[in-house]
Amino acid sequence: MEYIEKVLESYSYIKNKIKDVPEIAIILGSGLGSLADEVKDKMVIDYESIPNFPRSTVAGHAGEFIYGNFEGKKVIMMNGRFHFYEGYDMKTVTFAIRVLAKLGIKKLIVTNAAGGVNTSFKPGDLMIIKDHINFSGTNPLIGKNLDDFGPRFPDMSKPYDKELIDLAFNVAAKKDIKVVSGVYFMMTGPNYETPAEIRMVRTLGGDAVGMSTVPEVIAAKHSGMKVLGISCITNMASGILDKPLNHEEVIETSNMVRDKFKTLIKGIVNHI
Ligand code: HPA
Repeated sequence: MEYIEKVLESYSYIKNKIKDVPEIAIILGSGLGSLADEVKDKMVIDYESIPNFPRSTVAGHAGEFIYGNFEGKKVIMMNGRFHFYEGYDMKTVTFAIRVLAKLGIKKLIVTNAAGGVNTSFKPGDLMIIKDHINFSGTNPLIGKNLDDFGPRFPDMSKPYDKELIDLAFNVAAKKDIKVVSGVYFMMTGPNYETPAEIRMVRTLGGDAVGMSTVPEVIAAKHSGMKVLGISCITNMASGILDKPLNHEEVIETSNMVRDKFKTLIKGIVNHI
C-alpha cells in the first residue's frame, strides 16, 4: 500500500470515532504523559488498534491517541511518539503528523525532554523553541513529494510560529513560570552525546539537544500547521557537569517540573 493510502486508512479509522474537527494537537514528550489525565470527556485509542500506526517502544511513552476537551478546546494528545533511533524510517516517524493534518489539525504543540547545551540553562528549565537544527543527517520529506500536504521545497524561515511563541511567553509571565528560549538541535541518539559533540552543538548554535521533534516539525510545517515547541531541560548535556547521563534522570527531572509544564500548556491552550 502507498504511504498516502496508509495515512488515509488511519485517518478514516480515527475520524469515524471522533466526528468533530479538533484544531490543536499536543505531542507529549518523555515523562509528560500525565497531561493526558486532564483531558475531559476523553476517548483513548491505543496506537495498536489504529491501522498502520507504528508502536511506541520507549519507557515513558505510553502509545495512546487521546481525544477530548482540554481548556475549553477540542484537542488531540499523542501520548508517545516515534523516534528515528527506534529504527523507524523518517516517513514512519512522521506518519502520525500526516494523520493529524488529515484530521484538520492547524496548530501543533510539541514537547520534549532535552539536554541543556547553553550553560546559562538549568535542569528543570522550560525552553520555548525559537528555531531548530536538523542534524539527523536525513529528512522526512525525502522521496516523492506528498503534494496533498505541501510543496516540494517548503519554506522553513519561520519553523516555530511567532504568535504562539509570544503567547507562551505571555502565559509564562502571567503564571510566574520561568522560561528560556533557544535553538533545539537534533541528534539521532540513542546514545547521549560525547563532550566533543556537545561543544560542536554549541559552536553550531544549539542551546538544547535532543533526539526527537525536528522530523515532526518538518512534516507539520510541510502540512501547513503552525507549530509551538517546548523543551524541558532535564539535564545538562554531556561534559558540562562531571557525571554520566541516563534516562532515569531525564524522567525524574521531567516529573519534578511536571506541574509547571502542565500549567504552562494549559494556559497556552486556553488562550489560543
Ligand atoms: N541529549 C540528547 N537527548 C536528550 C538529552 C541529552 O542530553 N536529555 C534528554 N534528551
